[in-house]
Amino acid sequence: MKAGTDRRTFHLSVIYGLWGLITGALALPAAVYLLWPPRRRRTAEWVEAADIGQLALKSPEEVVFRRNRADGWKITSEKETAWVVKLAEDQVIAFAPQCTHLGCAYHWDERKNYFLCPCHTSAFSLEGKVLTGPAPRPLDRFDVKVENGKLLIGPAAAKKA
Ligand code: FES
Repeated sequence: MKAGTDRRTFHLSVIYGLWGLITGALALPAAVYLLWPPRRRRTAEWVEAADIGQLALKSPEEVVFRRNRADGWKITSEKETAWVVKLAEDQVIAFAPQCTHLGCAYHWDERKNYFLCPCHTSAFSLEGKVLTGPAPRPLDRFDVKVENGKLLIGPAAAKKA
Protein backbone atom coordinates (compact mmCIF):
# COMPACT_ATOMS: atom_id res chain seq x y z
CA MET A 1 0.00 0.00 0.00
CA LYS A 2 2.75 2.38 0.93
CA ALA A 3 4.65 1.55 -2.31
CA GLY A 4 1.45 2.17 -4.39
CA THR A 5 0.91 5.50 -2.71
CA ASP A 6 4.51 6.48 -3.41
CA ARG A 7 4.19 5.49 -7.06
CA ARG A 8 0.91 7.39 -7.34
CA THR A 9 2.48 10.46 -5.70
CA PHE A 10 5.46 10.18 -8.02
CA HIS A 11 3.21 10.03 -11.13
CA LEU A 12 1.16 12.97 -9.92
CA SER A 13 4.36 14.94 -9.29
CA VAL A 14 5.59 14.18 -12.81
CA ILE A 15 2.24 15.14 -14.35
CA TYR A 16 2.01 18.37 -12.34
CA GLY A 17 5.66 19.13 -13.13
CA LEU A 18 5.11 18.70 -16.87
CA TRP A 19 1.92 20.70 -16.66
CA GLY A 20 3.84 23.50 -14.93
CA LEU A 21 6.58 23.43 -17.57
CA ILE A 22 4.08 23.57 -20.44
CA THR A 23 2.15 26.38 -18.75
CA GLY A 24 5.38 28.32 -18.20
CA ALA A 25 6.50 27.77 -21.80
CA LEU A 26 3.18 29.12 -23.07
CA ALA A 27 2.83 31.93 -20.55
CA LEU A 28 6.34 33.37 -20.85
CA PRO A 29 6.03 34.68 -24.44
CA ALA A 30 2.56 36.02 -23.66
CA ALA A 31 3.88 37.80 -20.55
CA VAL A 32 6.80 39.28 -22.52
CA TYR A 33 4.38 40.42 -25.21
CA LEU A 34 2.03 42.03 -22.69
CA LEU A 35 4.54 43.51 -20.25
CA TRP A 36 7.46 44.51 -22.47
CA PRO A 37 6.38 47.39 -24.67
CA PRO A 38 7.46 47.13 -28.28
CA ARG A 39 9.64 49.77 -29.84
CA ARG A 40 7.59 52.40 -31.48
CA ARG A 41 7.77 52.57 -35.22
CA ARG A 42 10.74 54.84 -35.63
CA THR A 43 11.23 56.63 -38.86
CA ALA A 44 12.49 59.96 -37.55
CA GLU A 45 16.08 59.00 -38.11
CA TRP A 46 18.60 61.09 -39.99
CA VAL A 47 21.04 59.11 -42.10
CA GLU A 48 24.25 60.15 -43.80
CA ALA A 49 23.82 60.02 -47.55
CA ALA A 50 26.63 61.94 -49.22
CA ASP A 51 29.71 64.05 -48.80
CA ILE A 52 28.81 67.61 -49.76
CA GLY A 53 32.30 68.26 -51.14
CA GLN A 54 31.89 65.38 -53.62
CA LEU A 55 28.66 66.74 -55.15
CA ALA A 56 28.97 68.75 -58.33
CA LEU A 57 27.04 71.99 -58.56
CA LYS A 58 23.66 71.68 -60.33
CA SER A 59 24.42 68.13 -61.41
CA PRO A 60 21.88 65.72 -59.86
CA GLU A 61 23.26 62.54 -58.44
CA GLU A 62 21.38 59.46 -57.28
CA VAL A 63 22.69 58.47 -53.85
CA VAL A 64 22.12 55.19 -52.04
CA PHE A 65 21.89 54.97 -48.28
CA ARG A 66 20.69 52.53 -45.64
CA ARG A 67 18.11 53.29 -43.01
CA ASN A 68 17.22 51.20 -39.95
CA ARG A 69 13.52 50.83 -39.41
CA ALA A 70 12.12 49.66 -36.07
CA ASP A 71 8.68 48.11 -36.19
CA GLY A 72 7.55 46.42 -33.01
CA TRP A 73 10.43 44.21 -31.89
CA LYS A 74 11.86 43.93 -35.36
CA ILE A 75 14.62 46.18 -36.73
CA THR A 76 15.34 46.00 -40.42
CA SER A 77 17.92 47.76 -42.51
CA GLU A 78 16.51 49.01 -45.78
CA LYS A 79 18.29 50.38 -48.81
CA GLU A 80 16.90 53.66 -50.08
CA THR A 81 17.84 56.08 -52.80
CA ALA A 82 17.39 59.80 -53.36
CA TRP A 83 18.21 62.23 -56.12
CA VAL A 84 20.42 64.91 -54.62
CA VAL A 85 20.93 68.33 -56.19
CA LYS A 86 23.47 70.85 -54.94
CA LEU A 87 22.01 74.16 -56.04
CA ALA A 88 24.63 76.27 -54.22
CA GLU A 89 27.43 75.60 -51.75
CA ASP A 90 24.99 75.92 -48.87
CA GLN A 91 21.79 74.70 -50.56
CA VAL A 92 21.15 71.02 -51.21
CA ILE A 93 17.85 69.32 -51.92
CA ALA A 94 16.99 65.64 -52.10
CA PHE A 95 14.08 64.15 -53.99
CA ALA A 96 12.31 60.86 -53.38
CA PRO A 97 13.09 58.55 -56.31
CA GLN A 98 9.47 57.95 -57.35
CA CYS A 99 7.58 59.96 -59.93
CA THR A 100 4.60 61.76 -58.42
CA HIS A 101 2.30 60.44 -61.12
CA LEU A 102 2.24 56.67 -60.56
CA GLY A 103 5.51 56.04 -58.80
CA CYS A 104 7.89 55.02 -61.59
CA ALA A 105 11.60 55.57 -61.15
CA TYR A 106 12.69 58.65 -63.06
CA HIS A 107 16.21 59.67 -64.07
CA TRP A 108 18.21 62.78 -64.86
CA ASP A 109 18.45 63.46 -68.58
CA GLU A 110 21.84 65.10 -68.99
CA ARG A 111 21.26 66.30 -72.55
CA LYS A 112 17.84 67.84 -71.94
CA ASN A 113 18.73 69.07 -68.47
CA TYR A 114 15.65 67.79 -66.64
CA PHE A 115 14.37 64.78 -64.75
CA LEU A 116 12.45 62.47 -67.06
CA CYS A 117 10.03 59.73 -66.09
CA PRO A 118 10.06 56.98 -68.74
CA CYS A 119 6.58 55.68 -67.94
CA HIS A 120 4.40 58.57 -69.16
CA THR A 121 7.10 61.16 -69.99
CA SER A 122 6.57 63.58 -67.12
CA ALA A 123 9.47 65.98 -66.86
CA PHE A 124 10.69 67.85 -63.79
CA SER A 125 13.07 70.76 -63.44
CA LEU A 126 16.28 70.76 -61.42
CA GLU A 127 14.20 72.10 -58.49
CA GLY A 128 11.62 69.32 -58.94
CA LYS A 129 8.87 71.42 -60.52
CA VAL A 130 6.63 69.80 -63.12
CA LEU A 131 7.64 70.85 -66.64
CA THR A 132 5.29 68.51 -68.48
CA GLY A 133 2.56 66.24 -67.13
CA PRO A 134 0.80 64.03 -66.36
CA ALA A 135 2.54 64.30 -62.97
CA PRO A 136 0.09 66.21 -60.73
CA ARG A 137 2.65 67.79 -58.40
CA PRO A 138 6.37 68.48 -58.02
CA LEU A 139 8.81 65.78 -56.93
CA ASP A 140 8.53 64.85 -53.26
CA ARG A 141 11.43 66.09 -51.17
CA PHE A 142 13.26 64.58 -48.25
CA ASP A 143 14.09 66.83 -45.33
CA VAL A 144 17.83 67.47 -45.47
CA LYS A 145 20.50 69.06 -43.33
CA VAL A 146 24.25 69.42 -43.56
CA GLU A 147 26.53 68.56 -40.64
CA ASN A 148 30.33 68.49 -40.80
CA GLY A 149 30.27 68.47 -44.58
CA LYS A 150 27.92 65.47 -44.74
CA LEU A 151 24.45 65.50 -46.19
CA LEU A 152 21.92 64.00 -43.78
CA ILE A 153 18.58 62.85 -45.12
CA GLY A 154 15.51 62.92 -42.93
CA PRO A 155 12.80 60.41 -42.28
CA ALA A 156 10.46 60.52 -45.23
CA ALA A 157 9.73 62.37 -48.36
CA ALA A 158 7.53 65.33 -47.60
CA LYS A 159 4.90 66.30 -50.12
CA LYS A 160 6.31 69.72 -50.87
CA ALA A 161 8.53 71.40 -53.38
S1 FES B 1 4.62 57.41 -63.53
FE1 FES B 1 5.87 59.02 -64.14
S2 FES B 1 4.71 59.98 -65.65
FE2 FES B 1 3.46 58.38 -65.04
